[in-house]
Amino acid sequence: MSRTFVVLGGSGDLTGRLLLPGLAELEAAGELGDDFAVLVVSRPDWDDDRYRRWARDRLAEHADRVPEESRERLLRRVRYLRGDVTDAGDLGRALDQASGTPVVYLALPNTVFLPTLEALTEVGLPEGAVVAVEKPFGRNLADAQRLDAVLHRLLPEEQVFRTDHFLGMQTVLNILGLRFANRMFEPLWNGLHVERVDIVFDETLGLEGRAGYYDTAGALKDMLQNHLLQMLAVVAMEPPAAVDARSLAARKADVLRAVRPPEDMARDTVRGRYTAGSVEGRSLPDYTAEEGVQPDRGTETYAEYVVTVDNWRWSGVPFRLRSGKALGADRHEIVLRFRPVPHMAFGGGAPEPDVLRLRLDPDGISLEINLNGAGDPFDVERRSLDIELPPARLSAYGLLLAEMLAGNAALSISDVEAEESWRIVEPILAAWKAGEVPLQEYQAGSDGPRSPAA
Ligand code: BG6
Repeated sequence: MSRTFVVLGGSGDLTGRLLLPGLAELEAAGELGDDFAVLVVSRPDWDDDRYRRWARDRLAEHADRVPEESRERLLRRVRYLRGDVTDAGDLGRALDQASGTPVVYLALPNTVFLPTLEALTEVGLPEGAVVAVEKPFGRNLADAQRLDAVLHRLLPEEQVFRTDHFLGMQTVLNILGLRFANRMFEPLWNGLHVERVDIVFDETLGLEGRAGYYDTAGALKDMLQNHLLQMLAVVAMEPPAAVDARSLAARKADVLRAVRPPEDMARDTVRGRYTAGSVEGRSLPDYTAEEGVQPDRGTETYAEYVVTVDNWRWSGVPFRLRSGKALGADRHEIVLRFRPVPHMAFGGGAPEPDVLRLRLDPDGISLEINLNGAGDPFDVERRSLDIELPPARLSAYGLLLAEMLAGNAALSISDVEAEESWRIVEPILAAWKAGEVPLQEYQAGSDGPRSPAA
C-alpha cells in the first residue's frame, strides 16, 4: 500500500532522535515499500536539501545500527515543506502532496496538539488515514478529553495511535508471552500468591539538554503517567482473547479503571530532584543549574507512588512505581515478589520468598528461588534461573512505526487508557502542587530520595 508519513514538526529533537532512526531501521530491514514517502512540515525556512543535511547529521549518530546506504535511501524519500501546522491552509497543502494513505505524526510539544488537530479536522483526512500523537497525551484529564473529542471527530479510534514506545519493548511484550503462552505462571499471578509488584525505571541519564520539554513535565508526567502505568496494565490485566488491538485495549483499560490513586500522599508518594554529583564517572550539575531550567517551577526528576488495583485478582497488593534521573545505576525492571511458603520444613530460618524479575534493556528474565544447599543438603540456598534475551530485531520505536504503517493499533494507548491514567495521577499532581509532599533533594549518582514505601 502506498503510504506517506507526514511528520508535523519534523525539525525537532524527537524526530532527530527517534523517528528518523526508527524509519531508517525499517529501511534497512526492507520494510518500507517502493512507494513509501516522508513529508516533513515544520516552521524553519528550509528546503529539501537543507532538511536532508540536518537529518543526515542526526542519522549519523545511529551509524552503528543502520548502514549508510539505508540512511541515504531514506533521505531520498524525504521532502520538506515549510508551514505552520496549526494552519488549515498549510496543512491542506501538505496533505495534497501526500500520495497514498497518510500517516500523520504529531512530533510536537503537547501544547500544540489541540490547535493542530482542530486544523486537521477543518481539512479532513482521507479514508484509512492514521494519526499518531506523541506522549504526554494532554497536560491533564480535561485536556486529554478535549484531544480525544477532536480526534474522534477526525477519524475512528482504531486509526489513532497514542504512542508509548515502552509497548514496543521486548520485555513488555514478553509479559504477554510469559503469562499467556505458558501454563505455569498464570495460576500464581494474583494476590493470593504475589505479595507486591515493583515497576522500576531508574536512569543514570540526567536532563540531556531537554529542559524545554522536561522542565514543564517532570518525572511523574514523563514516565509514571504513561510508560510505567502501561507496564502495570500489562502485568495486571486479565487474559485477552487475542493479542490484538481491541482485546488488549479493553483488558488494559479494565486494569487502569480499577487502580485506586494513593490515599495518603505523604506516605505513598515521593518526589525528588537531583543535586550536583557524579554518575558513572560523569559530573552532573545541580538540576536547577541545567540550561533552560526554572528552579522555582519545582520540577521533580524522581517520582514514586504506590497504588492498588481494586479487583478480585489483585485486591490489597501494592504496586510500587518509581522512576528517576541521574541515579547511581540503570535499573529497569518489573519485580514480582511472591508470598512466603505456608510452612518452612528446613532449618536456618525463613528463606527469602521467590522473586520473578522481568528486566528491560538488556532484556532478560530471572527467577530467584530456594534450592537445597550444596553444603548442607538439609538447608536451602538461593539460586537464580536466568534467561538473557537476544536483542530484538527492531528497536521499540522501529516496531511501533512498523505497526503504525501496517495499521495495527495493538501497541497504542487507547482513549480510555489515556484518560484513566490522568485520573490516577491527577490527585498526586494536585497534592504535590499544594505542598503536601516535600520535594526531597538527592545527590546525582546516589540511590535517590528516601522512600517511605520501600
Ligand atoms: C522517554 C522519556 O519517553 O523515555 C525519557 O521522555 C526517558 O525521559 C525515556 O529517558 C526512556 O526510554 P528509553 O527507550 O530511552 O530507555
